Order: sequence, then structure tokens, then C-alpha cells
Amino acid sequence: MAVAREIIASFQSNPSATKVKTAFLATEDASMVKAFRDAFGAEVQITNGGPLSLNTKKEEYDAIILCNVLDDWNLIKRRHHLGDLLKNVLTALKKSGTLVIREDMSRHPITTIPDLTKFFDVFVAQDSEGNGLTFDFYTTKQVEDSLYSKQDHLDLYWILTRAPKIVVYEEKLATFRDFLDKTQYTEDNVRSYEWIFGENFISPGGLDENRKFLQRYGTIKPGAKMLDIGVGIGGGARQAAKEFGLHVLGVDLSTNMIVHAFERNQRDQDCRVKYQISDILVYDFPENEFDYVFSRDAIHHIPDQDLLFAKIYVSFLQVLGFFYK
Ligand SMILES: C[S@@+](CC[C@H](N)C(=O)[O-])C[C@H]1O[C@@H](n2cnc3c(N)ncnc32)[C@H](O)[C@@H]1O
Repeated sequence: MAVAREIIASFQSNPSATKVKTAFLATEDASMVKAFRDAFGAEVQITNGGPLSLNTKKEEYDAIILCNVLDDWNLIKRRHHLGDLLKNVLTALKKSGTLVIREDMSRHPITTIPDLTKFFDVFVAQDSEGNGLTFDFYTTKQVEDSLYSKQDHLDLYWILTRAPKIVVYEEKLATFRDFLDKTQYTEDNVRSYEWIFGENFISPGGLDENRKFLQRYGTIKPGAKMLDIGVGIGGGARQAAKEFGLHVLGVDLSTNMIVHAFERNQRDQDCRVKYQISDILVYDFPENEFDYVFSRDAIHHIPDQDLLFAKIYVSFLQVLGFFYK
């Protein structure tokens, strides 16, 4: 099963996470256990069990992978019980260890995606000595295996790490994602912006204006890969795929924004467009991954411009690449 290799590659890309020597895998699917064993290789010691067996563990695992556990244990609606599980996970993980939660969200109302992401991102528990425990959010991605083999755009996985310490973004706003979703990009504001700017866009000019930007790349090779930074609700990414044949990865940190992109993706079934929830300054892409980098009305929101451009020029662009603000 390719999904195991895909998930492992994603969380191993995180430079802040510990290297995995011990992993706990919660799934009742024997073929999934085998897939993870094969993908990790013999040097990683894997324990397979139900989530309840995490209750007694302390700083034991470098990685904990929960595969369809939330649905199987009916935890998505029962947030209190989900909180108990997350507390056990945080206790059982070593510092900077990784938690992966994989769930097929096509079975749930679409708004469950931002709800869960927010829940994970700001979750805080206390250990037995009263010390605060929390996660650093790394990403939420679509399972490519399901995207291409089943056209399921909503089979997702979240990657978080146990934070070395609790850092609060600012008063009443736990993280930068929390800031975006609670201030400028509340659910109502996202709908209002789309009403102001026109269908599928949170920037002026709609399809016509966006097409002019895309045309400034010159001759675009269909099938080339584009990164769209701050993709919003995804109008520009879908246009780049539909009109230019580009394969686009749209990245955005606001869950209130990107939930619309996910929903329209599932509706349109266009596998050339993928999305992930990440802070562009935090997620580490493989070198030379993209032919083009694109961004509309987003980079001025991103505080560390030096880091942003270093990432774009060093890591993202292949030979042909232009960047538009
Ligand atoms: C004005 S909207 C533009 C959306 C889209 N490009 C469009 O033209 O419709 C800016 C977007 O940048 C996103 N953004 C801001 N900072 C970000 C960061 N550090 N990483 C990823 N996305 C970010 C916001 O969440 C928001 O969706």
C-alpha cells in the first residue's frame, strides 16, 4: 500500500521532528500494518495496538500513527474523548515526536476538516506533574493514493509534532493559523470576500485577471508542476489546471479558506489540483519540486520575507520559474 510510504515521506520531511526508531501504529487493518512495517524497514520497532494501550505509556515513541481510529472509535463527534486520546498521545510521544492522524473525511460534513484542524492545532493538556503539553502543527494533506486510485479528494492525514514547549502567538490567539482563522479569515469574512471579489477568488479581477498573470509565464508546458502559495479558496489553482494543464499544489494555512478549496476539488474531481494546509514558512518541500511558483495577494501577509524567498529560490524552482505577487 503506497499510502504508508507517502505518509512516512511527508512526516520525515519535517526538520523539527525526531528521527523515528520506535513507532506505535493504531489500526485494525492487517494489510496497513504490513505496509507500514515494509515502508519503515527493519530498523524501526513498530508496536501495533488499539489506542487504549497508549494510556500507560510515557515518552516511548518517536511516532504515533492513528489510521482511521477516529471514525472507528466514534471520536470525531465526541471531542471530550478525542481530547483524552490526544493527551495520551502527547504523554506517550517523545519530545518532537510525530503524530499522524489519517481519516477519510468524505464520510463527514466538510466543515469537520477545519473543526478538527483547529482542535488539534490549539490542543493543550497537562501531564501528571502539571506541565503543559501541546502540538506543533506541520500539515494536513490529501492521501495521493486515494486521490488517484479512487478520486477521493477528502482522504486526509494530519501531521503534528509534540512541541518542545508551549508558545502562544499572541493574547487569545494560540498560533498563526488561529490568528488567520479568527481575525481576517473568519468563516463569514471568507464568504464576504468571495462575494466582493467574485466566484472562487479572494483577489480582484477573477478569471480574466488571473489568466493574464498565468500568461506571463510564456509558453507553459502542460503537466508541469506549480506551487500556489496562499491559494485561498482555489480559483486560481483550478484555472491553472483547467486552462493550462498545470499540476498544481495549493498551500494555505487558513482552514476557513481552504475548506472551500477541498469541497470544490471533491466536486470537480480534477486530480491535477491538490491542496494542503500548511504554513509556507514551516513545511519543507523536497528540493526542485516545482517548475513554477505562483502567488496572488498572499506574500505581503507572510511575515518573514527573507525565509520565504530563500525557500522559493533554493528549494522550489526548477529551471523555469517566475513568481508573481
Ligand atoms: C488575499 S488571500 C488570496 C487567496 C488567493 N491567492 C486568491 O487570489 O484568491 C491570501 C491567502 O494567503 C494565506 N496565507 C497567509 N499567510 C500564509 C502562510 N504563512 N502560509 C500559507 N498561506 C498563507 C491566507 O490564509 C489567505 O488565504
